[in-house]
Amino acid sequence: MSTPPLPVVVLISGNGSNLQALIDSQRAGHLPVDLRAVISNDPSAYGLERARAAGMAAEVVDHRDFLDRAAYDTALRERIDAHQPRLVVLAGFMRILTHGMVNDFQGRMLNIHPSLLPAFRGLHTHRRVLEARHTVHGCSVHFVTPALDAGPVVAQGVVPVNPDDTEDSLANRVLQQEHRIYPLVVRWFAQGRLELDREVALLDGAPLYTPVRLGPNDPLPG
Ligand code: GRF
Repeated sequence: MSTPPLPVVVLISGNGSNLQALIDSQRAGHLPVDLRAVISNDPSAYGLERARAAGMAAEVVDHRDFLDRAAYDTALRERIDAHQPRLVVLAGFMRILTHGMVNDFQGRMLNIHPSLLPAFRGLHTHRRVLEARHTVHGCSVHFVTPALDAGPVVAQGVVPVNPDDTEDSLANRVLQQEHRIYPLVVRWFAQGRLELDREVALLDGAPLYTPVRLGPNDPLPG
């Protein structure tokens, strides 16, 4: 008997290309998920159009309508819970969540960050990588824990930094890998192969002391 698809809610703030990668993967039959809703904190996020085009519920909880972070998170929490997800996927969601919220979703909330964590937490990662003259860069999918960009990393996409790279060219190269590793990690979770055990991610029951690392030309693992 096959397991029912995993109910998922995706949080976004902008373009939503990672959301699109998940939609495409699900449609191609590679991702056993039920993408129930997309929620954005910004009404102008293009990802909302992508959600509507895919027939998903597209909702806005605008942070500017709330006095403080706690009030915002309470409202967001209500909207998320209405869809009863078993996984919440942060895909370019540019809001810091309260610890209470993160704790409630611990082990069932993933994020993608455009750097090889733990390097370059926070914003403007591509610029900072160029300024630091690093020769490799990439992206990380991690479980969300209360410390910002510091939860256990599951998988990383690694790319070279070229001497003539601009912030945009580097961001594009990284984004292409984001679109490979995010559906992969969500698939593992949906298949019941990935879980968080306190502070350690387990894949197929084995601790991931170092994340799965993929280069641009590496085939995706099963
Ligand atoms: C990605 O680079 C993601 O890593 C970062 O924000 C960007 C979102 O891109 N957190 P998109 O909205 O998925 O196109």
